[in-house]
Amino acid sequence: MDTTSFGIAIMAAGKGTRLKSKRAKVLHEIGGRPLLMHVIAAAETVAPPDRIYCIIGHHADNVRTVAVSTGVHFVMQAEQKGTGHALQVLKKHFSFTGQKVPQHLLVLSGDVPLIRPETLQQMCSFHLEQHAAMTILTAVPPNPTGYGRVLRKSPGDPEVLAIVEQKDLAPDQLATPEINSGIYCFETESLFANLSRLSDQNASGEFYLTDIAGLLAAEGKRVIAIKADHIDEVLGANTIAEMMHLDAAMRLATARKLMAAGVTIFRPETTVIDSMVEVGADTTIEPYVQLLGNTRIGQDCRIRSYSVIQNSTIGDGVLVRNGCILDSATVGRCAVLGPYSHLRPRSDIGEDAHVGNFVETKNIRLGRGSKANHLNYLGDADIGAGVNVGAGAITCNYDGVHKHKTTIGDGAFIGSDSTLIAPVTVGDGAYIAAGSSITEDVPAGALALGRSRQTTKPGWVASRKKKTS
Ligand code: UD1
Ligand code: CA
Repeated sequence: MDTTSFGIAIMAAGKGTRLKSKRAKVLHEIGGRPLLMHVIAAAETVAPPDRIYCIIGHHADNVRTVAVSTGVHFVMQAEQKGTGHALQVLKKHFSFTGQKVPQHLLVLSGDVPLIRPETLQQMCSFHLEQHAAMTILTAVPPNPTGYGRVLRKSPGDPEVLAIVEQKDLAPDQLATPEINSGIYCFETESLFANLSRLSDQNASGEFYLTDIAGLLAAEGKRVIAIKADHIDEVLGANTIAEMMHLDAAMRLATARKLMAAGVTIFRPETTVIDSMVEVGADTTIEPYVQLLGNTRIGQDCRIRSYSVIQNSTIGDGVLVRNGCILDSATVGRCAVLGPYSHLRPRSDIGEDAHVGNFVETKNIRLGRGSKANHLNYLGDADIGAGVNVGAGAITCNYDGVHKHKTTIGDGAFIGSDSTLIAPVTVGDGAYIAAGSSITEDVPAGALALGRSRQTTKPGWVASRKKKTS
């Protein structure tokens, strides 16, 4: 469909009083992404960013910071006197800046985040086909309470008489089932010509954009409604509970999409999967797993319960056992992690490597096939291939002021409970005896012992007993 005659306004200035939150409503997240970013993504399927106008006000600086990379315009509504006022501010913006007024305006609400591109397209085509002055996207949810209601001329008639807000419903209108989604198309001239006629003499003391429907209809202009196919896509997020309902719907949709692409997800309702996450076919995700941010997981992996993986890249055939935490880590194919491994930022785990129980890593490379299976801390280290890091061995990377690097060559053997005091280098194939404190470089192929020699006193126990009895 040709949408070149459309500009888009996104109303995102409101305070979100019902959230009882310090943060701007449109910055609250569902599916791991701020509400506003979902709405902008949907808008971008209809018009390019230079025809999208985001109306901001409450916590405007924070909202702008989050959305600035999208390249949309920002319009400041310093005082928020209602949705009608938001569009009055946009009208002023056009006359001040001289920016071209689009022939049609698609108006979106920053707190209605699940709207689908297909629905917006359908709505815009319907609006043009019907030569409407205003087209309202509606739905009939199980519980319409709280929403503005759409009064049609007669049931089934596309034409609308008015929208009445919940607080302003007359007793005989309370049962009206069809709600206003807060998403509209306008013929811009008709909208702009009527904005100054809005009044704030209503239950909220605000200028309602919804009153434009009645004003246009009374003028004999064509005001029509179109129902959305799915209820969830038009639901608003005014309270934390509503937001979590949308979050669950969105995550379930993400899980379904992954399952359709060959991923097995046991008990998908228990997983928390952000909408940007990618997972390859034949990977299995167990209950209570969280996959967050820009995480990418390959094929044929198994992610066991209670693992939380964020902004990480995992190759094919990796096993992540229970309870691992990964943040900005990279894991090569066929590696094995966990249970209870903690991979902190810039952990690069090689192919076939093993990182095991209660091992913490940070800013390291662990080479192909290397193993650190029990109780290690490995930080700021470059560890080669085929290295065996014994139980409890650690890198001492921090001297209280600076961080230092540990380098371990291919095939080295780091004995249990040794401490590698950085900066230090252990050469290829070198051996570190268990319990050593290593403060000096160890050449390739050498054995280093950094512990005091054992003293054994035969018969000591019996002789002490004699003395103390
Ligand atoms: C609005 C509609 C209601 C509809 C519902 C759907 C009005 C008067 N009512 O009610 O009919 O059923 O959406 O979700 O429009 N905003 C601004 N500036 C303002 C006020 C609000 O930009 O001065 C923004 C908000 O940030 C929000 C959107 O407009 O993103 C809607 O405002 P909100 O106060 O949530 O309206 P509702 O009461 O939900
Ligand atoms: Ca709302």
